Amino acid sequence: MRVGVLTGGGDCPGLNAVIRAVVRKGVQEYGYDFTGFRDGWRGPLEGDTVRLDIPAVRGILPRGGTILGSSRTNPLQSENGIHRVKENLAKCEVDALIVIGGEDTLGVATRLSDEYGVKCVGVPKTIDNDLSATDYTFGFNTAVGIATEAIDRLHTTAESHMRVLVVEVMGRHAGWIALHSGLAGGANVILIPEQRFDIERVCGWITSRFKASYAPIVVVAEGAMPKDGEMVLKDGTLDSFGHVRLSGVGEWLAKEIEKRTGKEARTTVLGHVQRGGTPSAFDRWLATRFGLHAIEAVRDGDFGKMVALQGTHIVRVPMGEATARLKTVDPELYTEVGVFFG
Ligand code: F6P
Repeated sequence: MRVGVLTGGGDCPGLNAVIRAVVRKGVQEYGYDFTGFRDGWRGPLEGDTVRLDIPAVRGILPRGGTILGSSRTNPLQSENGIHRVKENLAKCEVDALIVIGGEDTLGVATRLSDEYGVKCVGVPKTIDNDLSATDYTFGFNTAVGIATEAIDRLHTTAESHMRVLVVEVMGRHAGWIALHSGLAGGANVILIPEQRFDIERVCGWITSRFKASYAPIVVVAEGAMPKDGEMVLKDGTLDSFGHVRLSGVGEWLAKEIEKRTGKEARTTVLGHVQRGGTPSAFDRWLATRFGLHAIEAVRDGDFGKMVALQGTHIVRVPMGEATARLKTVDPELYTEVGVFFG
């Protein structure tokens, strides 16, 4: 049995931990061989492979990024994409494919599996934590830790200058990072994509915070939108899955706040800092368990499935189910944290 492995989409801390677990268990317990595909779906599309054996995965557990590389290549959008992927998998004598990715990468795996008979097992990853069917994706915990540390630091400089500090975090459709880091970091305003915000209300919270002689911290997810208006973007370029590149709402907010409250405001955009570097212990634990269970699914011939965390158990769910809809922040949960606003 030869198993292919690829990592696609935006990278996140813990990818290497999955690869290591898959290879270690696959070689040691089942005697499998592995082929790594470079840069997500580009690897099988172009037949670009990398050696993947136990020496290749030694020492990678705490390393951020992915030893396989990643990209947002979409084989469904490439000429003869499906055919080329299938042909290259056959050429490399790959019997099954472990696909580690988010909504887009796993969406492709679902179609390849359901419609074209490619034997895929999915592993959910994204710092955004927005995949349904799993309680958490790895990478999220690390990102929240980084954002929380940044908020802690911003509090002291905000207090020194008595100015507003706006922190823009990642989160395209889901505000999980904003919500968790904002709550953990004691933010005074948290804005998420799921709930359009009223700029007047935001300014009201800021003014009341100043009245209490404290400097406000506003945490905003990059996908958050004002009530009356469009998504605020720096540029409108698209990636290969057709998603517009985000960021800009933080800068916009600081300007609006200054204009409306007369208080000085600054913005920090955390950007890819949230995705880089070493994974937290929780993410290493989760990624490793996902890897162990993914190779077990291959051994069982249980294809078209994605491993998922439910409670403390790793379960297998149909991949299509996991990618059919996004897991967004429940309005009740958002209301619950509202007690700290202002
Ligand atoms: O998909 C995760 C994510 O971190 C989003 O929150 C963000 O919009 C996107 O990746 C940015 O990715 P890139 O800069 O790699 O296109």
